[in-house]
Amino acid sequence: MFHIAIDGPAGAGKSSIAKEAARRLGFVYVDTGALYRTVALNALNQGVDLENSDAVIASLDGTDIRLAFEDGTQKVLLNGQDVSDSIRTEQVSAGASKVSAIPAVREFLFGLQKNIAASCDCLMDGRDIGTVVLPDADLKIFLTASPEERARRRYEQNRERGMEADYDAILAEVNQRDYQDTHREIAPLRQAGDAVLLDSTHMSFQEVVDRLLQLVEEKR
Ligand code: DC
Repeated sequence: MFHIAIDGPAGAGKSSIAKEAARRLGFVYVDTGALYRTVALNALNQGVDLENSDAVIASLDGTDIRLAFEDGTQKVLLNGQDVSDSIRTEQVSAGASKVSAIPAVREFLFGLQKNIAASCDCLMDGRDIGTVVLPDADLKIFLTASPEERARRRYEQNRERGMEADYDAILAEVNQRDYQDTHREIAPLRQAGDAVLLDSTHMSFQEVVDRLLQLVEEKR
């Protein structure tokens, strides 16, 4: 088994980089953020106030969350229903950041992530993969970019999708999420001591993928 942990802040390009690297390596790409998003979606569907930790925890009772992999693509199933698309809204993003600060939510998802890793060569991305979920990963990457660059990329992405985009609002949101993710008490976003720092601010997508693959070759 070969396990690659990729952590970093929102918008650093983790998922697109990890997806492409996994494809080239023939590894499974596991997007753990999708799990936190699904917990948030499930609670929202039940009308739960996400500030109320006990209610969020109660919403997990009898809830089945699973990842399925088809042709290298991850699908997330909530009680058997494919919610891969509905977890991508802004409301769910903000909610995921909230529920991910609840220790019982992290515990609920911990075993799931461990089981997936135990069964395959994978590239897992998230916030605490190198520090908590896979502390013995064969390669750990901390992928980041400046907040301004991450906001700029999101802005371009939104415009390409024909969505309304306000750069200042996006930058404020990026900073807010960074703050929440790095300041929470449990499993805050931080670089593992043995992780390689990849700052993509001035790198192209292909340069980052190539560097990652080069690091994998050095470890294998
Ligand atoms: O990567 P993402 O935007 O889909 O993640 C959604 C939220 O989940 C984000 O606010 C951070 C949180 N998260 C986490 O706490 N730990 C992970 N391993 C992955 C995501």
